[in-house]
Amino acid sequence: MEKKEQLYEGKAKKVFATDNADYVIVSYKDDATAFNGLKKGTITGKGVINNKMSNLMMQMLEKKGVPTHFEKEIDERNTVVKKVQIVPLEVIIRNVAAGSFSKRYGVPEGTKFSAPTIEFSYKNDDLGDPLINDYHALALNLATAEEIDTIKKMAFAVNEAMIEFFKKLNIDLIDFKLEFGRFNGQIVLADEISPDTCRFWEAGSWDTTKHVSLDKDRFRRDLGGVEDAYKEIFKRLTGE
Ligand code: TMP
Repeated sequence: MEKKEQLYEGKAKKVFATDNADYVIVSYKDDATAFNGLKKGTITGKGVINNKMSNLMMQMLEKKGVPTHFEKEIDERNTVVKKVQIVPLEVIIRNVAAGSFSKRYGVPEGTKFSAPTIEFSYKNDDLGDPLINDYHALALNLATAEEIDTIKKMAFAVNEAMIEFFKKLNIDLIDFKLEFGRFNGQIVLADEISPDTCRFWEAGSWDTTKHVSLDKDRFRRDLGGVEDAYKEIFKRLTGE
């Protein structure tokens, strides 16, 4: 598929039109931001890793019965995906307390939940992606009740598949953020699954007080070893 004009530039990706109206090309950048763009930086090689990783995850999930936007990897940084209409919700699944959950509810990071949790944020940079519930999403016409139901079921299915997948790589899946889109009236998993959008902790490193993060928290929290963490995840995924 031919790469045409740029349609959109986000914080970590660019999106290009193709010669087919049903497909776009996403191009992964090395740019990193945190705290709604307040903190900016570069993570060298991140775009290559996130492209590859996200494509591997989408293909793994397709096999588990989760429909995704993935179509075809073109090269190191570019992938053809279905042109979806993004549902403006950030869907966050958590297995262990960390980040904003720990802060908001005063729960120490590393507290394991008896069952996974789900939460939604309204994807709106001007408002700082505020936390919302199902009824707010309906009131704001962000999705239908049926779509919200489908999104929840798919998000928990993704969690089950990913927990199992990462366990084999000696990684505990703490939490992650998903985005969904509409394609031909159906809800499909979209955006990316990468160390930018997940918390990965070295297995067994966190049941006491300290944990070893192999994700974007190394950038957000100035922990150092940012590139190495992305490379380590990539190595475990691909053996490269
Ligand atoms: P949080 O604890 O900061 O709410 O983050 C929960 C998960 O969502 C974590 O794995 C990182 C991911 N995330 C994003 O992908 N994008 C974002 O803008 C934020 C705030 C979090």
